[in-house]
Amino acid sequence: MKSKFEELKKTFEATLADLKDGVDLEEIKNKFLGRKGHLALLMKEMAELADDERKEIGKFANVIKSGMEAGFAKAEAARRVSQVFEGEWLDVTEPIFPAEGRGHLHPITQITEELEDLFASMGFMVLDGPELESDFYNFTALNIPPTHPARDMQDSFYIKGHPDQVMRTQTSPVQVRAMQKYGAPIRVIVPGRCFRNEATDARHEHTFYQLEGLMVDKDINLGHMKGVLEEVAKHLFGPAAKTRLRPKFYPFVEPGMRGEVTCFLCQGQGCRVCKKTGWLEVLGAGLVHPTVLKEGGVDPEKYQGFAFGFGLSRLAMLKYAIDDARLMQGGDERFLKQF
Ligand code: DAH
Repeated sequence: MKSKFEELKKTFEATLADLKDGVDLEEIKNKFLGRKGHLALLMKEMAELADDERKEIGKFANVIKSGMEAGFAKAEAARRVSQVFEGEWLDVTEPIFPAEGRGHLHPITQITEELEDLFASMGFMVLDGPELESDFYNFTALNIPPTHPARDMQDSFYIKGHPDQVMRTQTSPVQVRAMQKYGAPIRVIVPGRCFRNEATDARHEHTFYQLEGLMVDKDINLGHMKGVLEEVAKHLFGPAAKTRLRPKFYPFVEPGMRGEVTCFLCQGQGCRVCKKTGWLEVLGAGLVHPTVLKEGGVDPEKYQGFAFGFGLSRLAMLKYAIDDARLMQGGDERFLKQF
């Protein structure tokens, strides 16, 4: 008789252990512990036992019964916990903010990343440089010695008590830093923030972005420079964009030039944006001056190179038809939301 009870308890426990999600717990309870359930039927069989035996088995049966009831209570609690968790299920991969509340990249960052990808595809690496730069790298190493009148072209912010430090006026100093660090041959671009003491207006801002480029190798010529400019122009302004290079003085290149693209608005016909010329100036460029190569530790007898500096803020203004440079750093959401 005892073994029958034990057997029943085992079957009951196995049933609970193997519980499938959809199974009704009450049904199982009735089947085993209900008034007409397995346990009740087994207990009825005890009536045929002799008094002594019935007493002993009765005690045993009660222990089995409370064991089974405890087992059931446990299963019931587990089911309740899993139901609570199911109700509170949380997808941790879900975006935290609703889509319309999320920010996006600034137009300058967008254009920077686009150009980084383009130049990376041409084998250029992307470098950073310090925004608080030494007077030496910002000017002297770029063939602009302390007394050179070219310093007047870029009025700068200096740091009180540190006459040899300047908020960099251009990304060009990273040309020399890059050559000193990586030597030649080298292909590098440097997008970054620059500063000038400007009286600000729609075309001038004291804080702006440039994208510097430098390629040094054997047998580099201006054709390579033109090729790069054309790639960038077509990438940004479409396959119909034309480019031209015209002479311009920069102390750190020889010869130096300005790069222009056909006006995106009038396609070269002449309009307000291009001041009726049909062309827009987008970069300064040239063949790297031997003095600059030497400052970078590169032998100008063995290597040549070209360098260029895009006005990134200006490119972004052209690409997105933004007519006031001051909007770029203004932080006005009504402006930023348009990109
Ligand atoms: N740094 C110059 C500027 O801010 C732009 C420039 C001109 C960069 C010629 C160059 C270059 O690398 O070769 O006006």
